[in-house]
Amino acid sequence: MARNYFIAGNWKMHKTRGEAASLAKELVAALKDGKHKYLVAPSFTALETVAEIVKGSNILLGAQNCAPEEQGAHTGEVSVLQLKDVGVQTIILGHSERRHIYKEDDALINIKVRLALKHGFDVILCVGELLEEREAGKAEAVCKRQTVEGLKDVAAADISRVTIAYEPVWAIGTGKTATPEDADAIHAYIRKVIGELYGAGAAEKIIIQYGGSVKPDNAAALMAKENIDGALVGGAALKADTFVPIAKF
Ligand code: PGA
Repeated sequence: MARNYFIAGNWKMHKTRGEAASLAKELVAALKDGKHKYLVAPSFTALETVAEIVKGSNILLGAQNCAPEEQGAHTGEVSVLQLKDVGVQTIILGHSERRHIYKEDDALINIKVRLALKHGFDVILCVGELLEEREAGKAEAVCKRQTVEGLKDVAAADISRVTIAYEPVWAIGTGKTATPEDADAIHAYIRKVIGELYGAGAAEKIIIQYGGSVKPDNAAALMAKENIDGALVGGAALKADTFVPIAKF
């Protein structure tokens, strides 16, 4: 496969600065000879600490969200300008926890995606269906809508800075992983959607990560699939013991 694997750790709302620093140091040492592309996304409060540690390493720094505006009266939000200032390179947007707990819709996520790209960030756009949507046979339709709406008005020139993360909501943090076959089928479908939007070349190149209970013992089987180009890892990203084997699958 011509695409490079991209393994990202989403630390969610975990870790103080000290805890984040310890994990980041372990990862820098353990992954220095790693063959894939790597990223960690700490909480906003730990970004600056982790930025210092991963600087010059092969681990990119990600944020888990951004505000839909550059600056202004948005109590409790963090802007792209502030993320740039601490050295963030990539922003995760549309995570299912943002969609379902914090009610972010496709239109809001699209504003954030375009703003992040405008400011030179790479973006990981997360898509994925709920269990009831899968059971109703709507998994593809949901992923298509979230992909098309999330990328609305994103220029062809910018699509190379977008990674898609397919994260079936029923698999996140539940210990239930999609089978490699089921995940690959949705990845292939999302790739087809990207082809319809941006052409065959972009579809062939775009990195589509799988997320949802990725663990050391299931990573290799998932990554072996034609359309699975990496992983967005939550729970197993919180310890070097579990993240490193995934990152070096
Ligand atoms: P999980 O989370 O690996 O704990 O299922 C994945 C994610 O939410 O990105």
